[in-house]
Amino acid sequence: MQEHAKEHATSQATAKRIEDALAERFGEACPVDPGLPGLDELARIAGHRVHRRFLPRTVELALLRLLCACALSAPSKSDLQQADILVVRDRAKQRAITALIPDMPWIADAPVFLVFLADASRLPQIARLRNKPFPNDHLDLFFNAVADSAIVLTTFMRAAAAVGLGCCPISAVRDRPDVVSDLLELPQRVVPLAGLCVGWPAEEGGITPRLGLETTLHEDRYQVDDLAQQIDGYDRRREQQRPYRRQRDPERWGKAASYGWSEDKARQYAEPLRADFGAFVRAKGFRLE
Ligand SMILES: Cc1cc2nc3c(=O)[nH]c(=O)nc-3n(C[C@H](O)[C@H](O)[C@H](O)COP(=O)(O)O)c2cc1C
Repeated sequence: MQEHAKEHATSQATAKRIEDALAERFGEACPVDPGLPGLDELARIAGHRVHRRFLPRTVELALLRLLCACALSAPSKSDLQQADILVVRDRAKQRAITALIPDMPWIADAPVFLVFLADASRLPQIARLRNKPFPNDHLDLFFNAVADSAIVLTTFMRAAAAVGLGCCPISAVRDRPDVVSDLLELPQRVVPLAGLCVGWPAEEGGITPRLGLETTLHEDRYQVDDLAQQIDGYDRRREQQRPYRRQRDPERWGKAASYGWSEDKARQYAEPLRADFGAFVRAKGFRLE
């Protein structure tokens, strides 16, 4: 009986943790039934945050392999299995990647650095091996491989969080995809989706508020009533909860009296970013028609 009461109290506390995390994330209440199974998993998902600072503590290879196997258990479009994980164990290679991205020192400091790959190289090879035509060399091939790779990355992060590890994806490996591709000897029709820093977190980190569910959760049809107003509301909420430490490119845009998410993202995307990525993907043998 006492045991039962203890379990009930634990479930209630976990349900409350999820409610608090989601309130912080979305600025609205999301009631959680303490009787639901799987609350620990939901608590980890709701409380997600990336980690960029790590303890100088090794991540055992056997654990890493286990997490990779769990990640590669993720669903795969048509069971085509077009995602791979590349473990960068050579510190010289990790340093070479860091050197390409000097504003992200957490890459060099990460005890483990992985690269998640969209791998559409196997299907055309299988067609040749089995003496079949391959009329599917178009955008969907690329899209499916990217989707599989993103799902494997997310599943890895969930598995890592379950054992207490922290992660930070690094799409900046696509700033110089040609160099990364050469360094990692990626064949044709294999492109990096993102890197991933992995380690034991050195700090707890905090929840980043997201756009309200009124903006990103739709029912029956796509509908957003007043995007400008919703974004204003989100900017205010975010500025209160997690203000930006510095403003982006003040030389070009000046110092804004109020600096929210939309100002930051508008400034970020006022610069051309990875405009040559399409050319890289095409050079890697993908047809994007
Ligand atoms: C596909 C992807 C690529 C990312 N690339 C980078 C990156 O290159 N560098 C970095 O520091 N963070 C990167 N991030 C982390 C995001 O900045 C982070 O997820 C976002 O700020 C929201 O914070 P949260 O994940 O803690 O909620 C990436 C995240 C994703 C999902």
